[in-house]
Amino acid sequence: MDLTVEGKAFVNGSFNDCCIGITDGKISDIKKILKGDEHNDFGNKLILPAGIDLHVHFRDPGMTHKEDFSTGSMAAAFGGISCVFDMPNTIPQTTTLQNLNDKIISAGKKSHIDFGIYSIASDNNINDIEALAKKCSGFKIFLGTTTNTIHFNKKNLREILKDIGKTNKIVLIHAEDEPCLIKNKVKENNLSDHLHSRPAKCEEIAIKDILAASKGINSKIHICHLSSCEGLETLRGKPYNISCGVTPPHLLLSLEDNLPSQTLYKVNPPIRTRFDKESLFNSLKNGVVDIIESDHAPHTFDEKCVDFTVAPTGMPGVETMFPLFLYLAKKEALSLQRLILLMCATPAELIGIPKGKIEVGRDADFIVVDLKDHCRIKSENLHSKCGWSPFEGWPAIFPSHVFVRGEKLIEDHEIQVNQGYGRFVGA
Ligand code: DOR
Ligand code: ZN
Repeated sequence: MDLTVEGKAFVNGSFNDCCIGITDGKISDIKKILKGDEHNDFGNKLILPAGIDLHVHFRDPGMTHKEDFSTGSMAAAFGGISCVFDMPNTIPQTTTLQNLNDKIISAGKKSHIDFGIYSIASDNNINDIEALAKKCSGFKIFLGTTTNTIHFNKKNLREILKDIGKTNKIVLIHAEDEPCLIKNKVKENNLSDHLHSRPAKCEEIAIKDILAASKGINSKIHICHLSSCEGLETLRGKPYNISCGVTPPHLLLSLEDNLPSQTLYKVNPPIRTRFDKESLFNSLKNGVVDIIESDHAPHTFDEKCVDFTVAPTGMPGVETMFPLFLYLAKKEALSLQRLILLMCATPAELIGIPKGKIEVGRDADFIVVDLKDHCRIKSENLHSKCGWSPFEGWPAIFPSHVFVRGEKLIEDHEIQVNQGYGRFVGA
């Protein structure tokens, strides 16, 4: 055994004082007492599975002044995330085998943590799905237009879901209906106008279309960043093969919250009402929501601080997601058990990787947390290139240590590995 880690570990649904044995990057044993070449005793601190983020935009290639795979993955590591899945709306977009291969190779040289890469499924690459599926981690479909995306014509939705279903890959869908967005578009000067332009109805229509198009098809479908009570209600009683995620901004922010800036919080789908926010948060506890995903969408502070009409949409969040919710769990806004499902076990299961649980045979990916050790989020302490956070000043609990495949990536809040440690978790 190469390494043993001792503490109050979350194993089999509860916390136990135990030792975790690690051999060749995998958890090889879990017992009250174990001996390894190196022993790390964390005493009363909690050992949790590391988080898995199924939704990040690391902007690499093409927009690396906002973020690149090195900085994005470093930010993720500091936030207790051991594996991220990157969205395809880069420049070029990840639509072809060539672009996909290039991205995997480049990310492999830069990433600090493990990673997967999605392809876009668009009207233009319908015939390439099978070939792309051999390499990518899943597909993304944009039913509504957003930052640098190709919108997918919903007429072809059933066909593409069938094709992707045959490959056994997950398909992640941005669920806002394009015709509805076009119909409701108003001139936007602030967040309230932005909400009028992208009403909950558009999310509801898109979700209804997805449910109808996927009838009888058992492809794995994930609805990204659910944002409205209407969307939530439409998904109640959803079939087993359909999952959905929510983001920290949609769970924690609303238009009634007197947000300190308008443009910084511009995002698609939009920040909605307090009622939407509270409905989503309630559904975290035991409802239709399966995972929390960051939708880390960095734009630089300067790019965001412009006239509302032209400000880009999206906010960073991969580093603050788990820490914000660890603090909320400490305050009993939701249980730690439920949080670990939402952030670790379920994302790992949806994407099909051997992570997300402290269990023999899985990757030795975990974080060490002291629930007494909370701080306030400060942009200057974060690692994304974009240089700001929508959660400036919020209380959070950052992990002191982060292990990925048995390697200490973060030790006492300091990074220990170079870029390139991360591995493609594959197709
Ligand atoms: O606001 C958004 N920004 N929504 C998306 O779906 C994409 C993202 C981005 O890439 O900036
Ligand atoms: Zn996104």
